Amino acid sequence: MPAAAHMIRTIGNHVFHLATQDSSYVIEIAGGVVPTLRYWGRRLDADPSGDAVGVAGAGPDGRRLAELNVDAPYRINAGKRLQRLQLEGLRLEYGVQGSGDFRRPALHALDAEAFPIPQLVYRSHRVLSGKPELAGLPSARTAAGEATLELELADEVSGLRVVLSYTPHESQNIIARHVRVENDGEQPLVLDRVMSASVGFAPGALDTVTLTGAWAGERHVTRAPLATGVFATESTRGTSSHIANPFLALAERNAYEAHGDVYAAVLVYSGNFLAEVDASLPQSPRLNIGINPFEFRWRLDPGEAFTSPEALLAYSGDGLSGMSRCFHSVIAECIVPEHWTRRERPVVLNSWEAQYFEVGEEAFLELADSAAKVGVEYVVLDDGWFGTRNGDDSSLGDWQENPWKLPTGIDGLAHEVHARGLGFGLWVEPEMISPVSELYNAHPDWCLHIPGRERGAEAPLGRNQLVLDLSREEVQEWMIGTFSELFARAGLDYVKWDMNRYLAPVASPALSAERRGEVAHRYVLGLYRVLSVLRGRFPDVLFESCAGGGGRFDAGMLAFMPQTWTSDNTDAVSRLFIQYGTSFVFPPVTMGAHVSAVPNHQVGRSTPLATRGAVAMSASFGYEADLREWSDADRDEVRRQIEFYRRFRTLIQFGRFTRLESPFEGNRAAWMFTDEGARQVLLFVSRIRGEVSAAEPPVRLRELAAGGLYEVSLAYGDASPSGEDGSAPADDYGMYRAAELENHGFPVRLPVGDYVSRVYNLHRVD
Ligand code: GLA
Repeated sequence: MPAAAHMIRTIGNHVFHLATQDSSYVIEIAGGVVPTLRYWGRRLDADPSGDAVGVAGAGPDGRRLAELNVDAPYRINAGKRLQRLQLEGLRLEYGVQGSGDFRRPALHALDAEAFPIPQLVYRSHRVLSGKPELAGLPSARTAAGEATLELELADEVSGLRVVLSYTPHESQNIIARHVRVENDGEQPLVLDRVMSASVGFAPGALDTVTLTGAWAGERHVTRAPLATGVFATESTRGTSSHIANPFLALAERNAYEAHGDVYAAVLVYSGNFLAEVDASLPQSPRLNIGINPFEFRWRLDPGEAFTSPEALLAYSGDGLSGMSRCFHSVIAECIVPEHWTRRERPVVLNSWEAQYFEVGEEAFLELADSAAKVGVEYVVLDDGWFGTRNGDDSSLGDWQENPWKLPTGIDGLAHEVHARGLGFGLWVEPEMISPVSELYNAHPDWCLHIPGRERGAEAPLGRNQLVLDLSREEVQEWMIGTFSELFARAGLDYVKWDMNRYLAPVASPALSAERRGEVAHRYVLGLYRVLSVLRGRFPDVLFESCAGGGGRFDAGMLAFMPQTWTSDNTDAVSRLFIQYGTSFVFPPVTMGAHVSAVPNHQVGRSTPLATRGAVAMSASFGYEADLREWSDADRDEVRRQIEFYRRFRTLIQFGRFTRLESPFEGNRAAWMFTDEGARQVLLFVSRIRGEVSAAEPPVRLRELAAGGLYEVSLAYGDASPSGEDGSAPADDYGMYRAAELENHGFPVRLPVGDYVSRVYNLHRVD
């Protein structure tokens, strides 16, 4: 055992205690043959070097078999190899379809004759230092001294071998899991379902918490009591999608933001996922998370291995905020490219809502000039600069600049932008192909399609486009070559990598018939390969991923691109909801958020500039508007916003983020950013509908330094007094003790009117 593996303790042969700073996950091999979950929750022992894990009564072989086999007459007893255990009574770590455990399985595998492989028997374990690479897939980096437990299970008859992998990420309080399935037999096998993680729960009143939505309304928080039956949140669209996010939490019924037990899972994956809870037996609910079996069937030839994506499991005893802290820290510290973990993100101006497809060198440089004057750091040229693209109906695939629009070329434009002291970014949508394009004419077979059915412009289209077949190596090579050349020639500092169409039909004639069910996953693997080569070649380029806004906001994409365009909806009020929900999993630094014009182009609402600023400044900040057309007063305000953001950028991008009030539950949203030791705090408060100021409740803060004395002042926002007649004073600025601010709250008095935001500065003075 590596010296470093102190977070993994083996007790006897059959109990494994995986510990993080605050949580414990204890696996017991029931009867020496079947891995089960014995405990998941608050850390069991304080001393990681001690042998006793505090699991009461754990003998060297775990609990006695008799205890496990509570007599239930209609249950199936497993065969002799599995010690006749009643699998359905156990909290299985990796249940198999056909075994007599009737809950949704972790694995469904078939042999060459299409018979199910109904059992896996525990064979051995080992502890490795670090974490083995997940072939072709992103995963959380380990810190020095961290280790991985591997449990090997096998089926002697077919030669199927399954290795369950567990890595405790100590300071992030995450247990990372994945599986590797190998064919050690002589015949091909078929995998119909391979979950990354499966977790058995004890009975109890639980709620499911998921992030659901739609285009322009992504990641809204949905919470519901877990009912008897099967609950699922999933994507079947080829990307992780606008509709659902690869995240599922089970929260104790009375768990809330700051207290209570929450058990949650996130999948580090950008394609079809399934996160489900099978509570058809309410006394033993099971959570599964992994690649969606929809559009998935994988052939495993002798000697081949299949690796699942990684699932990140978080237990929090401190409610949903504690859960988010685990995910924020693992994503910010172990998932986003190392180069970007502590590197500040620039203030950008993106041309989309300013100019849409009306691209021209002169107009873009004027926009850049207006941006430079107010302090913007990077300008990004969005769609419309290449091929003959004047709308969304052509040219995807023809990544040559349009010489009429950009007479000095993309490199000439970049040169001009750089000469203004600005960074230069470019929009691309590499995964797509327009039927009206030179690329399509040259390679009509490069898109996902079914031979013999409608093709090209007659095929099913989404936004007038088709999807390139990234399961094909030649398409990957074309993409790597084309974009390496473009990024280098343009001297880019920033790339917005967009993807505006779901996958349908999911079909590639390049794969043989028995491999047709592999297209959706091979697409994702192909994408990850392209991204990892490009990221390796352009480590300094800041990549932002986008899929019709936030249609692929997941930890898989963040492993290559440290931020995501959160939503095409830039309205400040809509964004309160979207960003609040997104923060359940993703830290604010990963969310692109821009101030745009009013009336807002998506929802038609007019909100004050200060409010648009405060909401966008809660994330990776920028603008999406034609500042040339704004009044001098508004441009002055923009300058103030950027000054404010730059002053507090480190705190906002790398501080601790805590949700205080949910817009889903009231008329306000509030959150805060705190530095190490809570000396410096920024409190953001937004009220949606105007209300009589006297009715305004104080905002209760959390996680301040115990006993600390704080000076509270207005950091940003409309300073006008509150009250219907404007007579009441503005907020009660001054000195407050931490306990007052936490137990009573800060008495905000927001100005009259709808859609008001303020940012307060809390500075510890003692
Ligand atoms: C998508 C993106 C937008 C913009 C357009 C360009 O909708 O989400 O931000 O880039 O494409 O066509």
